[in-house]
Amino acid sequence: MRVLSIGGTRPQFVKMAVIVRAFEDYNANHFGSVEHRLLHTGQHYDPMMSEVFFKELNLPKPQTLLGVHSGSPGMQTAAMLAGVEADLMQWTPDVVVIYGDTNSTLAAAIATVKIHIPLVHLEAGLRSHDRCMQEEINRIVSDHISDVLLVPTRRAMCELQSEGLADRAVFVGDVMLDAVEHFANLDGPSSTLEQLQFSGGEYALVTLHRAETTDVVSRLGDVLQALEEIRFPIILPIHPRLKHLLGNDGMALLRNIPHMNLIDPVGYIEMLRLEKNARFILTDSGGVQKEAYFLGVPCLTMRNETEWVETLHGDWNVLVGTRASTILSAVKKTLTRRNHMQEARRFSSFGDGDAGRRSVEQIVNLVRKT
Ligand code: UD1
Ligand code: UDP
Repeated sequence: MRVLSIGGTRPQFVKMAVIVRAFEDYNANHFGSVEHRLLHTGQHYDPMMSEVFFKELNLPKPQTLLGVHSGSPGMQTAAMLAGVEADLMQWTPDVVVIYGDTNSTLAAAIATVKIHIPLVHLEAGLRSHDRCMQEEINRIVSDHISDVLLVPTRRAMCELQSEGLADRAVFVGDVMLDAVEHFANLDGPSSTLEQLQFSGGEYALVTLHRAETTDVVSRLGDVLQALEEIRFPIILPIHPRLKHLLGNDGMALLRNIPHMNLIDPVGYIEMLRLEKNARFILTDSGGVQKEAYFLGVPCLTMRNETEWVETLHGDWNVLVGTRASTILSAVKKTLTRRNHMQEARRFSSFGDGDAGRRSVEQIVNLVRKT
């Protein structure tokens, strides 16, 4: 059986790593019957956005690296679509697996269904109900044209049901919970914390990269003002999107904020260590919101809605939007908070950390049926 996983961005490498591992386990019990290969579109290409994940998470070298890189949404998606199609013609897999909601996901979905190869969408059913988000369009299209939908939460199951897709949907749980449990040796030292001489709880971890936050000048200005006025140590691993947008002058201003520790993007395990030790997390990332929840760290999300509504339970994740005043008052409240999350409750909404195995079962079943 030939399975091709397609992705091209940092969070997709984390999700793929869980599936790679689950196929290895499957093969150990099934005489190596599955050949699982990867195709990397090249959407993320800086070594700390790509290579580091392949090394740390033991991902095999992709059979193809398309090298499409950055571009306008249409150009980037079109170039990836053409590249994926050409690749599928050469190694004709029995099934293609796509991950999440990026332009790589959309391109791979369209290329696959157009040449009648069965398609599985992992992390299906998420909706922000904001059609201005590129990711929302990518998800809707990918869900509607996939043969099997692997669903991370019950809420996502309901979304698919309301769109008439229930018969293709299977609740498997969230592979990112598997990833946190399997790949993270959180007891080891964090090189960043050693270098900056911070102990646990002495800083806030901030990430900022969504187009909706960074590309609107007034919104970005508000967020940066909040970061300046927080007056609590911040560690900010900067996403290349924000770095490019700020340019040299903007980066210098950010660096000059006295309590700001601006660092390059870090590898996955280092990131989990930074999350685990943070006093709180301030982010607009989907994956980081969930990891904060899995690790029991309070999170403030700089958006007005979230696809991961389960994390809002008990105010462990709070939607604070992008206005400076709202962010600052939420930070103040968080800094005075002392209670801890109950582990069992946190995890139940996202499955039990076995989403990789269940996903592999569904992928194999689909191929057997076709
Ligand atoms: C993409 C996904 C987003 C996901 C994020 C994960 C889409 C529409 N967006 O956003 O859903 O949350 O990945 O991080 O698919 N750049 C570099 N080096 C890199 C990668 C990007 O310099 O290795 C810069 C380029 O200037 C590029 C910009 O970052 O134009 C944005 O990159 P892109 O891949 O288009 O979108 P992301 O913001 O990374
Ligand atoms: N991440 C990382 N290093 C960083 C920032 C994030 O390894 O410097 C990881 C993070 O732990 C999570 C994933 O990347 O697993 C989230 O990616 P991102 O925030 O870029 O995208 P999103 O989840 O919003 O799509």
